[in-house]
Amino acid sequence: APARFTLDPAFAVGDVDARLFGSFVEHLGRCVYTGIYEPGHPAADEAGLRTDVLDLIRELGVTALRYPGGNFVSGYKWEDGTGPAGERPRRLDLAWRSTETNRFGLSEYIDFVRKVGGEPMMALNLGTRGVAEALELQEYANHPSGTALSDRRVGHGDKEPYGIRLWCLGNEMDGPWQTGHKTAEEYGRLAAETARAMRQIDPDVELVACGSSNQGMATFAAWEATVLQHSYELVDYISLHAYYEERDGDRDSFLASAVDMESFIENVVATCDHVGARLKSKKKINLSFDEWNVWYQARFHAAEPPNWEEAPRLLEDNYSVTDAVVFGSLLIALLRHADRVNVACLAQLVNVIAPIMTEPGGPAWRQTTFFPFAQASAYGRGRVLQVAVDSPAHETARYGEVPLLHATAVRNEETGAVTVFAVNRDQHRPLPLEVALHGMAPARVVEHSVLADADPEARNTLTDPERVTPHPGEGTALADGVLTATLEPMSWNVIRLG
Ligand code: AHR
Repeated sequence: APARFTLDPAFAVGDVDARLFGSFVEHLGRCVYTGIYEPGHPAADEAGLRTDVLDLIRELGVTALRYPGGNFVSGYKWEDGTGPAGERPRRLDLAWRSTETNRFGLSEYIDFVRKVGGEPMMALNLGTRGVAEALELQEYANHPSGTALSDRRVGHGDKEPYGIRLWCLGNEMDGPWQTGHKTAEEYGRLAAETARAMRQIDPDVELVACGSSNQGMATFAAWEATVLQHSYELVDYISLHAYYEERDGDRDSFLASAVDMESFIENVVATCDHVGARLKSKKKINLSFDEWNVWYQARFHAAEPPNWEEAPRLLEDNYSVTDAVVFGSLLIALLRHADRVNVACLAQLVNVIAPIMTEPGGPAWRQTTFFPFAQASAYGRGRVLQVAVDSPAHETARYGEVPLLHATAVRNEETGAVTVFAVNRDQHRPLPLEVALHGMAPARVVEHSVLADADPEARNTLTDPERVTPHPGEGTALADGVLTATLEPMSWNVIRLG
């Protein structure tokens, strides 16, 4: 039987915030050094940024760029990354057992963000530091001039303030692995007081409080409730992080990873609204899903830990076409909740669990996951329509019965163009799809793009960088207000109607 759903612009989820297509640059492995920044590389610009990588980042269509961590930020002194490059200290990075040269810091990051047309999203160290250092960074970065810290920035060569509006109040503070890990009470108080003070400098900053590091944490939901009980009126967002990997060869469960992601989002929304109800608040806390991806953590934990090298090769997962289909499904999960998820960051951007890979001194190329992200960012702007699928289903070990179709649709309110994003979770069989269009009349199928491969392990590598790319779908048609298509086995699909 075909999978079916109906689209009607009268039934919308909400408008997509451009920052749903954010990403993340951490001082981790080769994300910064030999990733985006490599002075001396043939493609490096005058600032040492790799222009081949900048081009790929623009093509990817990333918006918000979270920086500088991650676990790294919880031991970071932001001042180390300012001022003349030759005078910057070398430091131990406890999070990744690496040596941080600080050659790349705040000014270089802002230059990078501007060159790719992104928006800064700055994480604060609330692990080893607190309110005072957060305020100092905010003053250095955003105050025009005339104070010691703003004039220090001007003296460092950056006359224009950085205008950082979006701030993360720490990173994964619920995790025992985090430097300066805290209880929910301790962190909730610190987040509230940091937020209160930052708003004294600028009431319009947007602040993200740390939620849980994943839905499986023992403190999940209680953590969010306690943190928000302290900070509800002072912060705008609560963060979510989630990484998925195939375990024990159970591919059907892996392909259903978005079931976990959607339940995570819905449980955090419920928790936020519960606290809001208890506080009798009119305000809504929205979500910043500021780390998400496929990540083979089991491989990372099995590998030798680094020994204080500079920019070691860490977390350099090479993604298969299977990973890209799951990744596309995670994008669908985010879009389906665009009413409450305003910010999301693909973790990470280059080399480290990333859609873009580089070789030091050599080329840059697109991983399989590059394509779903670029397409979602290009065509997933506008209003998300409600999609209630009527689909054949199958049993999975991890998530029970799961529909084979996972889908969402976004309508461009100005042009009337509609894009359907759909994943067929069936590894072996094609899935016929029928979409009834009500209350709108797109004239034709502009494109049906498919990411799938006869070899589920196919991937792009340094020696074969274009092994996997999207191809056109066949037989897709629009007639009498009904879209019909066939979704290849285990595929990511983008069907554009205009
Ligand atoms: O993205 C890699 C790491 O995953 C981040 O540093 C941390 O926040 C998370 O645990």
